[in-house]
Amino acid sequence: MELSNRPRRLRGNGILRKMVRETRIDPSSLVYPMFVMEGSNKKEEIPSMPGQYRYSVDRMEEKLAKLQKAGVNSVMFFGIPEHKDEMGSGAYAEDGIVQKAFRKAKETAPELYLIGDVCMCEYTSHGHCGILCGQEVDNDKTLEFLAKTALSQVRAGADMVAPSDMMDGRVAAIRRMLDQNGYSHTPIMSYAVKFASSFYGPFRDAAGSAPAFGDRKSYQMDYHNRREAIKEAMLDVEEGADILMVKPAMAYGDLIREVKDRTSLPLASYSVSGEYAMVKAAALAGFVDEAGIVCEMAVSAFRAGTDIYITYFAEELAEFMNEGRIG
Ligand code: PBG
Repeated sequence: MELSNRPRRLRGNGILRKMVRETRIDPSSLVYPMFVMEGSNKKEEIPSMPGQYRYSVDRMEEKLAKLQKAGVNSVMFFGIPEHKDEMGSGAYAEDGIVQKAFRKAKETAPELYLIGDVCMCEYTSHGHCGILCGQEVDNDKTLEFLAKTALSQVRAGADMVAPSDMMDGRVAAIRRMLDQNGYSHTPIMSYAVKFASSFYGPFRDAAGSAPAFGDRKSYQMDYHNRREAIKEAMLDVEEGADILMVKPAMAYGDLIREVKDRTSLPLASYSVSGEYAMVKAAALAGFVDEAGIVCEMAVSAFRAGTDIYITYFAEELAEFMNEGRIG
């Protein structure tokens, strides 16, 4: 048979397959999201996320050490406060839970790079991502509080802040606050393209942050929209974001690619709690091969244009990369 092209020629040998591999990744691109809680000697499994835990600050070290050993050098902290109130005061309290976690991590794992998720939903009694005015989240009033939250995290030891609230103008407000206080070198990773998504369900169980009424559709994006994703990304570039993010990751590969092609900032994508929960549940039922699925999902995010992959599977993925299974 005369065939001018035989793509299989490049697939016949393992060395050759690796030689022509188009997507190359290593553990330095991974960020692990970690839940920290009040109390001492606590490590509680999150029911909808088997294998993921809420740690008290004195128990974080065991996970941080494992991550570092695998080559994951960056962690993003989410705080679960003991008390929540209307104004989300735990988000910007000097002795807030996440602030304590930053201080402790800087002490016990000083070489780790620490990122703070900046939002109010874990700290407000109503579970919304900002300050309410009646039943609505007041955008401009919330900006002050987000900026205060970012500053308090950086003062406690955060190396980078990542606003996830989806208020308009938050990147500029946070940038101004950090600059005015001598932190002009601290980068902002903006959750620029963040959708109102059912994929966040398990996170809200983990953090007890489901809204007490309504939903987040007046601030998070409608998942039918593609041009709006570009608009959000561009606005955050103008406001001074250093890194952009698309969230969720799985099911949003088209937008990862599109934002990547239209901007010049490093791009993160966040494989969220629902993605983790689905893989775990199917694997525990024996329906899929967990390792295979985890690798394929991660590579697809990188192939779409991800530079930085935020995932609850960070430690496992780093090990798969170290073993040469992917990479
Ligand atoms: C805070 C925040 C959320 C997530 C990251 N930051 C929850 C939400 O927006 O409801 C979701 C992460 C995940 O599902 O893993 N606003």
